[in-house]
Amino acid sequence: MSDWTDIGAAAELDASQRLEGDVDGYRVRVVRVSGTLYAFEDRCTHDDSPFEDAPIEDCEIICPRHGARFCIRTGAALTAPAYEPVATLPVRVENGVIQVRDNRWD
Ligand code: FES
Repeated sequence: MSDWTDIGAAAELDASQRLEGDVDGYRVRVVRVSGTLYAFEDRCTHDDSPFEDAPIEDCEIICPRHGARFCIRTGAALTAPAYEPVATLPVRVENGVIQVRDNRWD
């Protein structure tokens, strides 16, 4: 089972609305939507682009490169040109620090 990895201060996320980090060699992104934290691999499944500065509408993130939409809660690909989901990851706050764990190979 992988360990929890510190991504950043919860207060930092409140200011920027999104954080990025590295968990077990994978880029991850953490966002807060309607008060809930979500973490997912920062790699669009269409062509591997990061979601840097990607717009968020409701609970969907829109890839800035070709416009595919993904559900932030589930990772599901909602529109072409992406068809595969992005990996969503467990996220928690411990003593004011946001932590993410990659549980895909537990
Ligand atoms: S790289 Fe994301 S939609 Fe093409």
